[in-house]
Amino acid sequence: MQEGYVVTGVKNGWYGLIDNDMRILDLKSTSGILDRGGTILGTSRINPFRDPELIKKIKENYQRSGIDALIAVGGEDTLKVALGLYKEGIINVVGVPKSIDNALSGTDYAFGFDTAVNIATECIDRLHTTAESHHRIMVIEVMGRYTGWIAVEAGIAGGADMVLIPEIPINLNELCDAISNRHKRGKMYSIIIVSEGAVLEGESVFAAEAERTQVDEFGNTRARGIGEIIARKIEQETSYEARVSVLGYIQRGGSPTAFDRILGTRFGVKAVELVQQGKFGKMVSLRANKMTYVDIKEAVEKRKTIDPALYDIAKVFFAE
Ligand code: F6P
Repeated sequence: MQEGYVVTGVKNGWYGLIDNDMRILDLKSTSGILDRGGTILGTSRINPFRDPELIKKIKENYQRSGIDALIAVGGEDTLKVALGLYKEGIINVVGVPKSIDNALSGTDYAFGFDTAVNIATECIDRLHTTAESHHRIMVIEVMGRYTGWIAVEAGIAGGADMVLIPEIPINLNELCDAISNRHKRGKMYSIIIVSEGAVLEGESVFAAEAERTQVDEFGNTRARGIGEIIARKIEQETSYEARVSVLGYIQRGGSPTAFDRILGTRFGVKAVELVQQGKFGKMVSLRANKMTYVDIKEAVEKRKTIDPALYDIAKVFFAE
């Protein structure tokens, strides 16, 4: 294999290794991607561990290619697969945290998250107009199937009146009372941010909507529809008009913020450094604005749920 930076995954994530679809990635071929969202490598969203044949192919192609190491860029699922391949001695791996959910442990931030928060904040600002003019309750459903990071940070930045997150089950009666009390105090509209994965009190899994039972290759439930459930309940209980806006994939698209561009670049440089030092099984990480690294195991073993101190700050707006 030619010397340089080899990229696998040209044909979508792990398929690059499975199908032996690789090409050299150097400074010239990566020029001009800094301001682009998504990934030029594609993303497979597949779990090769579901089929021993796929793992065999990854092993064969990795060995045949003469690659020194693989830099796996992704969230919980990608890094769990990377760790599995590393632990079985199949590949040398260094992880890079990329996830709009920001749920990876061991790092203050994953790149992609800040962009999603900025988009969600801008949407909240825009939705304020309708809420205020029409005296409506605006329920804004944001991404985050297991954690409320986007909801809380965008909620604080956008001055949300209520933020509902997966970590704290929703009590619909309390929510409706809080809205009614706001109205009694002369606040004729409310902005409610809800993470797609938020659950109602007393429900062990996601609310009983048909779509919510769909599961992907990693066993992740497709979370969707909680905003609608909440809005209907609010209308029934308070007689105020409620509308729902599901931000969905809008949050994952477009040009990254300066913060994410810088973080992604810093992570990339650190990842190459770790490969050069032979520090495999590690994930690059941001701690107190310094580049460092942790075991991938630590990053994926336990999900990083919302910092209660941060949620308390979001709550300052709730009483308003
Ligand atoms: O993992 C990030 C994430 O954006 C979640 O917040 C969201 O639920 C999920 O991906 C959507 O995944 P898909 O693209 O498979 O629908």
